[in-house]
Amino acid sequence: MYNEKVLEIFANPRNVGEIENADGVGTVGNASCGDIMKVYLKIENDVIVDAKFKTFGCAAAIASSSVATEMIKGKTIEEALKIRNADVVEQLEGLPPQKIHCSVLAEEAIAAAIENYRSKQK
Ligand code: FES
Repeated sequence: MYNEKVLEIFANPRNVGEIENADGVGTVGNASCGDIMKVYLKIENDVIVDAKFKTFGCAAAIASSSVATEMIKGKTIEEALKIRNADVVEQLEGLPPQKIHCSVLAEEAIAAAIENYRSKQK
């Protein structure tokens, strides 16, 4: 079902874990499959200097978390918010149609973590 790239990343995901005293934390879930993704961000001057994740979910969700956290490192929060699930799928060189929602979780978890960061700035 999965391509080689997804399987390779699933077997060796980057950025697994949590960041102590993270500046932004976002947790999202998909009600239909029950999978949960939590993203931790370290942010300095609105630039994401570190990102980690914990995902309780399928191989596509874990691979999506890995590439999404890689993609946002070094980006400003504005740039990170522009990353769509389609960009995550492209990095993964494709996902099966029934697994597209797993990449949506990554987009949503990043947005939730940034929202959490912004709410703390106020
Ligand atoms: Fe729901 Fe993958 S099956 S996140």
